[in-house]
Amino acid sequence: MPQCSRRSLARLLPALALALSAACASEGPPSTESKSGAQPAPQPKSAGVVNVYSHRHYETDKRLFTKFEQETGISVRVVKAGADALIERLVSEGASSPADLLITADAGRLVRADAKGLLQPVQSEILEQAVPENLRHPDGHWFGLTQRARVIVYNKERVQPSELSTYAALTEPAWKGRVLVRSSANMYNQSLLASMIAHDGEAASQAWAEGVVSNMARPPKGSDRDQMKAVAAGVGDVAIVNTYYVGLLVNSKVPEERAVGEQMGVFFPDQDGRGAHVNVSGAGVTRHAPNRDNAVQLLEFLVNEDSQATFAQANYEFPVRADVPAGSLLESWGDFKADALPLSNLGMHQETAVRVFDAAGWR
Ligand SMILES: [Fe+2]
Repeated sequence: MPQCSRRSLARLLPALALALSAACASEGPPSTESKSGAQPAPQPKSAGVVNVYSHRHYETDKRLFTKFEQETGISVRVVKAGADALIERLVSEGASSPADLLITADAGRLVRADAKGLLQPVQSEILEQAVPENLRHPDGHWFGLTQRARVIVYNKERVQPSELSTYAALTEPAWKGRVLVRSSANMYNQSLLASMIAHDGEAASQAWAEGVVSNMARPPKGSDRDQMKAVAAGVGDVAIVNTYYVGLLVNSKVPEERAVGEQMGVFFPDQDGRGAHVNVSGAGVTRHAPNRDNAVQLLEFLVNEDSQATFAQANYEFPVRADVPAGSLLESWGDFKADALPLSNLGMHQETAVRVFDAAGWR
């Protein structure tokens, strides 16, 4: 990507510099928000704002938004909250909502937002080429931005990967008192169960949920990271977690967390069958987006090769793009087969998943 800087521009002819500064605008937010007191830079044609409602809580996103601001001159304003709260806010704001883009950490919530009529179709060759069909809405109401697999991690000292096979096998008597997993209120678990309901039906999924509950090392509590800490502490031997949390532990600044990460083996379940459950963090342009074009531009930016590599390297998420490598840690876990279920199917089973979890006594 060509570098644009004030210094390089200053060396150019003034007229050319003026034209280029409009194209590059790589020095930060638009001059309306500039606090430098310097001569205001000419406004790039596309300058303005994009208002993002985001459930994602990662430092990586902040870095990418800043880069987008520098490249386009469009200010990214972010409201962070849980996906359900953001969806409710969009409903109550209606046509006067300032939101342009809804970002969630789970396809299920995008499907829910779409079912409420909160998203609008986007046609973009860039998005359609970058995001595989099963990871986006068929009419462009939302697009996956990153992939995460929900895997089984195991304590490398106490479990051999040969003892593991499928999600279903975690219900076998050998795992009595050894399985750690977070609450069923968590959307990652709801989407995993929704995928099982889509493939195997409700009765089989009910049996699975009951089987896992009876093998739990303790009643569900804490985050995915907490499950791995409990595996390392010997509370249980295996846990169901999202892959990027392993990466965040292995690369943590806290030595104790790094030690926990090092103890975890990563196992992709169901490799002889449908493949490991994957979900996406994704985004959709809101129905009443006041800055629709900017929202589409941000979406396209987030699936470009650089952004996809940043998601992979800094947040340990799998790129949605096939042509961007996943990074050394993720690649060290080996290739895996991912469940090809279209993620738009997850949403339709989400309510059933919640009911099944409740009936199984999975807190
Ligand atoms: Fe997460």
